[in-house]
Amino acid sequence: MSAVLLDSQSFTPYHAVLMTNASTSALRPRNSGPEGASLFPNQHLLMIAGMKPWEITFLLDEAEQWVNFNRQTRKQTDVLKGLTQINLFFEDSTRTRMSFEIAGQRLGADVSSMAVAQSSVKKGETLIDTAQNLAAMRPDIIVVRHQESGAIQLIADVVSAYTRCAVINAGDGRHEHPTQALLDALTIRRHKGSFEGLTIAICGDILHSRVARSNFQLLMALGARVRAVAPPTLMPTDIERLGVEPYTHMDDGLKDADVVIMLRLQQERMHGAYVPSTREYYYFYGLTDARLKHAKPDVLVMHPGPMNRGVEIASSVADAVNVSAITEQVEMGVAVRMACLDVLTRQARGIEGWA
Ligand code: CP
Repeated sequence: MSAVLLDSQSFTPYHAVLMTNASTSALRPRNSGPEGASLFPNQHLLMIAGMKPWEITFLLDEAEQWVNFNRQTRKQTDVLKGLTQINLFFEDSTRTRMSFEIAGQRLGADVSSMAVAQSSVKKGETLIDTAQNLAAMRPDIIVVRHQESGAIQLIADVVSAYTRCAVINAGDGRHEHPTQALLDALTIRRHKGSFEGLTIAICGDILHSRVARSNFQLLMALGARVRAVAPPTLMPTDIERLGVEPYTHMDDGLKDADVVIMLRLQQERMHGAYVPSTREYYYFYGLTDARLKHAKPDVLVMHPGPMNRGVEIASSVADAVNVSAITEQVEMGVAVRMACLDVLTRQARGIEGWA
């Protein structure tokens, strides 16, 4: 997490200089869609599916100001002063959990993270009962990660019956991870300027990936051409229905790509063996310097983390300052989550045009 604490002088990715400076001068949001609350009329942020392109762009525009803000030495506002944010992570996390905590704290919210391993979940309390009890404490925002697809929609339905509290999906099973897709999009936009005409290859364990699902929908909504690159065993059978172009050979899938997003093998969601061995997987699907030469010379390499070096990506690629935006993605994660927390609480805070 150290990248978010560095200032703009010490943390400017090498080939991001032009776009970063251009974007950081845009202190004001620049969306030309509907006005006020009609820009983002949703109580919750549960999935990218169904989001309008201007809703996505609006959140990205809002996040820009927080990128600049987070690069200052002092980073504290009272935007969410008096509001309560509960983080509820049923599944392990480093980046998403910490960045939601930091985002809420920097906006001035009272942030509590429930330790699920020490909670009454361990005594058999159901997800619905847990959600009802937390909603009864009158939080304004609940951020949830859960290992089951659809669990967070269930929590949002329960919470909506009680309060106007916003529920944010921090990743549910293999379904969606909307704030990861938003931070990926912000990273790409700051480097490439726009999405129109870009070819983006998402490579690896597509079958078990909520990041891939959210990114497919978001990147196509904003005009990118998206490829899914995976071994046949890790490619969803309905991949073409999702509107992306499937490739089972890495070199073909990487050809002339502007952006490559690598995914890890998500062993925790696998039942049985999907690849003969991690060594063989790396041989055929690992992103090495040699393989990356098939992409465009100014290719941007990304990874949502956690990375498994020497399995899906070589260290020399992951750490290449001229190519890799992996640490920058983490920095963008705080800004995107600050934008989501701000926007989703505007109505509750009685902000003009939103109440
Ligand atoms: N990208 C991502 O969701 O990472 P964490 O699991 O560490 O939150």
